[in-house]
Amino acid sequence: MNIVSKDIAKAVEILSNENLVSIPTETVYGLAGNIYSEKAIKKIFAMKERPFFNPLIVHIHSPAQLTNIVSYIPAKAQLLADTFWPGSLTLVLKKKSIIPDLVTAGKDTVAVRIPNHPVTLELLRQTGFPLAAPSANPFGCISPTQSLHVSNYFEGKLSMVLEGGSCQNGIESTIIGFENDEPVLYRLGSISLEEIEKVIGKVSVKNKKEKSPNAPGMLSRHYAPQTTTYLVDDAATFIKDFPNQKIGVLIFNKKIDAPNIVVMETLSLQDNLKEATSKLYATLHHLDTFELDMIVAERFPDVGLGKSINDRLNRATKK
Ligand code: TXA
Ligand code: MG
Repeated sequence: MNIVSKDIAKAVEILSNENLVSIPTETVYGLAGNIYSEKAIKKIFAMKERPFFNPLIVHIHSPAQLTNIVSYIPAKAQLLADTFWPGSLTLVLKKKSIIPDLVTAGKDTVAVRIPNHPVTLELLRQTGFPLAAPSANPFGCISPTQSLHVSNYFEGKLSMVLEGGSCQNGIESTIIGFENDEPVLYRLGSISLEEIEKVIGKVSVKNKKEKSPNAPGMLSRHYAPQTTTYLVDDAATFIKDFPNQKIGVLIFNKKIDAPNIVVMETLSLQDNLKEATSKLYATLHHLDTFELDMIVAERFPDVGLGKSINDRLNRATKK
């Protein structure tokens, strides 16, 4: 049975019955449930096999809804919301008590964003309740940027993927929280640190690889393909040591040649980091379909979205 559908009314019905729908956003597809339904939220954790200590992101459709969810908005948070919403920025703010502990993993803060996707904005207007939605992939796997990625993961378990095309930005939202009113970046993402700092000035960065993170995307192995993946400074040199291996290459803006390269994926011949970001996960999904011995990814320039790409590639590698 094909679970992919464009039927928003059907998605509203499923969600209203405390079941889950995968929703399109401009970053990645989410696995969504009503934030006020304990049953739905538990299903999200179960379906993803995600540990309960990892809190979820709440999706709303208008800035007005924010005041129902959070108790305090620092001035710099307001400025970021005014600048980037709807869009790929998640704010972590002090929560109101109405937000269930299950959604926030018992924290007194909640992560919230307005996604920039017309289908999901319409869905959110029609449900009336906000949707908790982590990326729609089993825990630790590559995030989905097409409806097909989601149905490949969850066919037989999930009743519907709401079709919204390929995700334009292609990696998760940037997460900003506040400690003593000062901004802290918890996850690099679709909006570069430089763009954020243009709006609110210096931001401290806690996007570390940690063993016990407060963001699952921060786990040292995450966003990982099934194929063993290496992140290297110079792919052409690295693969010389593996002449008998079937290799897939993922690289920014050029092509390299070797007899044992089975598939060569250049993310932007135009040198465009935004284009490269939008293709990153779809390319990793694609590379995973060739029975390769290894994927060799070459490090991207460490500026702007290149930092976000390197962050994800770094977590995709086996250590
Ligand atoms: O682009 C995105 O953000 C996508 C789409 C579906 O919106 N969602 C997404 O969700 O990436 P997920 O669950 O894969 O990542 C949510 C991140 C996690 O790293 C989580 O720990 C962090 O948000 N987070 C949620 N609540 C938090 C909180 N109160 N404090 C710190 N981090 C929080
Ligand atoms: Mg995720």
